[in-house]
Amino acid sequence: MTPTMQLSLTVNGNPRTLTLDPRVTLLDALREHLHLTGSKKGCDHGQCGACTVIVEGRRINSCLSLAVMHDGEEVTTIEGLGSPDQLHPMQAAFVKHDGFQCGYCTPGQICSSVAMLGEIADGIPSHVTEDLMQVDFSDAEVRERMSGNICRCAAYPNIIDAIREVQEA
Ligand code: FES
Ligand code: FES
Repeated sequence: MTPTMQLSLTVNGNPRTLTLDPRVTLLDALREHLHLTGSKKGCDHGQCGACTVIVEGRRINSCLSLAVMHDGEEVTTIEGLGSPDQLHPMQAAFVKHDGFQCGYCTPGQICSSVAMLGEIADGIPSHVTEDLMQVDFSDAEVRERMSGNICRCAAYPNIIDAIREVQEA
């Protein structure tokens, strides 16, 4: 018999309890067990960013993380950022600037963008930050920080336009 573990998560503001094989990834827990299919499985290897969700305020690749590691934590997926009737500003900006084509990468791009603006606001430097004491928004910062989110349709310029608009709002 496969051993299971019980864990509690707060997902998009709702408390959820799951009993899972401890080898289940956070991505599979969200998609297969909670039926939140917004987060996408692109590579399942930490290479594409399609599975990006926000855990405790920071973005992670949910395919690289076991669900049981997040017992007691707060998870936000694309479903928790906005709804079709009430889009999150980043979702609205992606629509406005045509920041997606097939849309497969889009949930990960949007979760990543929202958390990434938080990183800049919190003064967390990136590889391209010159002055570690002064983290400013720039296209170079956005390109570097979003480089883990691959878009095979290459909607990158429009994604940057969308992120810039939210930053300036
Ligand atoms: S599916 Fe997680 S990074 Fe590609
Ligand atoms: S819009 Fe198709 S992969 Fe990004």
